Amino acid sequence: MIEYDSVTKVFGIGKKAVTATDNVTFTIDKGETAVFLGPSGCGKTTMLRMTNRLESITRGSIKVNGQDIMDMNPQKLRLTMGYVIQQIGLFPNKTIAGNIAIVPRMLGWNKEKIRARVDELLNMVKLDPEIYRDRYPVELSGGQQQRIGVARGLAANPDILLMDEPFGAIDPINRDQIQDEFLKLQAKLKKTIAFVSHDIHEAIKMADKIAIFKDGKLVQYDSPESILMRPANKFVSDFVGADRALKVLGLLRIRDAMNLSPKNLVQAGTDAPQVLKMMEDRGMKFAFVLKDNKPVGYVSPKLLKYEQGKVEDLVERFPEELGTREPLRDALSAMLMHDMIDFPVMDDNGDFAGSISYKNIQKSILELYYEDQDG
Ligand SMILES: Nc1ncnc2c1ncn2[C@@H]1O[C@H](COP(=O)(O)OP(=O)(O)O)[C@@H](O)[C@H]1O
Ligand SMILES: [Mg+2]
Repeated sequence: MIEYDSVTKVFGIGKKAVTATDNVTFTIDKGETAVFLGPSGCGKTTMLRMTNRLESITRGSIKVNGQDIMDMNPQKLRLTMGYVIQQIGLFPNKTIAGNIAIVPRMLGWNKEKIRARVDELLNMVKLDPEIYRDRYPVELSGGQQQRIGVARGLAANPDILLMDEPFGAIDPINRDQIQDEFLKLQAKLKKTIAFVSHDIHEAIKMADKIAIFKDGKLVQYDSPESILMRPANKFVSDFVGADRALKVLGLLRIRDAMNLSPKNLVQAGTDAPQVLKMMEDRGMKFAFVLKDNKPVGYVSPKLLKYEQGKVEDLVERFPEELGTREPLRDALSAMLMHDMIDFPVMDDNGDFAGSISYKNIQKSILELYYEDQDG
């Protein structure tokens, strides 16, 4: 846990004084990722560098796991926090293994333990130790070097990671990939992370909470969903963009919005006339057809009219398969593409888990929007 209490940083004195961070108070909970977000010069890096005492604090306090960092030895403090920066800062004259091992060496680990840890970390960041351990930084691409930066930050298994635009220098395709990998890693490691970014997309993707800064002041500290749907002021809404409802759709999962017990289900082995009558009686326009609890397609009264066989031989297949974990954006996209307003949703085994309709999507967006008023 990291607690910032009225943290102020002033660089310089007199007329040249610059207030880089201004009376900032918030808490990063254990195991959570807080993304510090805002335009260039708003004080993000300064916040981060005060956290491991690379910068002094002018006023206020920072506590780590309940302890004031000013009561701790700065060198020791830094060994408990991994630090990953955009410029990477790998030593060109050291091998990859040597670069990753810097903190473990300072901690006096023995050779075998360091070697095992280096290999473990290289596997963790998806680089084959046999190939990369003895190479030099220049022999790696920018994205691979950044992976080494992440591995180095994690080397001594610190509780806390400070990351300053760690993926900022990587091209968009590789950045997306390394972000995905890092998210998977974090799901297992559950580090407490302070992550600086100026990119709203990255913030939404990586954050449990987003801290938005303007001119050194903390403007809003909230979940990505809340930042998008209930921005504190015009600065925040401008910063997140006019398409914020669409951005929320990239964040929410189908499982958050789906209908768990839709009524329009029929079993594959049922006779067509029976299904047709049921659909006409209830005014159903279409029904999902399940076989062994797996969605195999849908039927409509039009498809069943004058037919005698089983519905499974008459189904139209769904043009796309949607899973519970997929973002709502993908469901909406499927609806727009295929001019359909309702899709079955499958769990990880391909079994029927529920359905997702346009109305379900709209409802979950509006719920977020009105959460405060309902409160
Ligand atoms: N060492 C320094 N000396 C003087 N001013 C600084 C120093 N470091 C940062 N600043 C100023 O503090 C403000 C915040 O900088 P910074 O924290 O680097 O912003 P960000 O990371 O959000 O781009 C800026 O106005 C910057 O010029
Ligand atoms: Mg910065």
